[in-house]
Amino acid sequence: MIIAIDGPAASGKGTLAKKVGEHFGLPCLDTGLLYRAVARDVARAGFRLDDVWAAKAAASGLDAASFDDPALRGAAAGDAASIVAKIPEVRAALLAYQRAFAAQPGGAVLDGRDIGTVVCPDADVKLFVTASSEERARRRFLELQAKGDPIGYEAVLADIRARDERDSGRSVAPLKAATDAVLLDTSNLDIEAAFDAAVGSIKRKIGQ
Ligand code: DC
Repeated sequence: MIIAIDGPAASGKGTLAKKVGEHFGLPCLDTGLLYRAVARDVARAGFRLDDVWAAKAAASGLDAASFDDPALRGAAAGDAASIVAKIPEVRAALLAYQRAFAAQPGGAVLDGRDIGTVVCPDADVKLFVTASSEERARRRFLELQAKGDPIGYEAVLADIRARDERDSGRSVAPLKAATDAVLLDTSNLDIEAAFDAAVGSIKRKIGQ
C-alpha cells in the first residue's frame, strides 16, 4: 500500500506520516529532507541556491546517508530547500529515488508537496493536510521557542506565508491537492485527533 501525504510547511504532515507509517508497519520517507539536503550541498560547494548546474549536480549526487544531519531540520534549511525545489532539473533528479522508495515490497508512506500529484499519482491513498497559516505559524513558533530560538511570531508567520507562495506558485509540481486526495484540516485538531482522522480516512479508502 502506498500512502501519499502532502501539505504546506508546518501543517503537521511529517509527524502524521511517521505515525501513520508506524501504525500500518510501512517505511516512511520525508521527501522535504531530499530538497533540504540538496540546498545544503549546493551552499557547501560555494554556489548560489538558484544555480541550476550546481543544484542539479547536488541532486544527482545526493547521499541518503546524510539525511539524518540535524542541520537539515531548521527553518533556514527549509527556506533554502524551497528555493532549489523550484528548479525542474532538481525535481527530475530526485524523482527516481522517491519512486524506488515507494515501490518497495509492501509499500511505503511518503510525505511532501507533490507526492499525490507527481511522484505517486497511483498511490492507494492520498491525504492533503492543511491548517490555517496562523495556526501553522503558532505551532512552529512554539516549537522554535522551546528550542530557545528568539524569533518572534510575526517573523515565523511571514516566513510560512513566503514559503507557501513559493511552493504553490512555482511552475513545476506546485503544492496542490490531487483531485482524488482526502483533505484533512488540522487547524482545530491536536496530533492525536489528526492521527485518528487520518487512519479513519485511510481505512475507508482501502475498504477496511
Ligand atoms: O516539507 P519540508 O518543509 O521539509 O520541505 C522543505 C521544502 O522542500 C519545501 O518548502 C518545498 C520543498 N519540497 C518540495 O518541493 N517537494 C516535496 N515533495 C517536498 C519538499
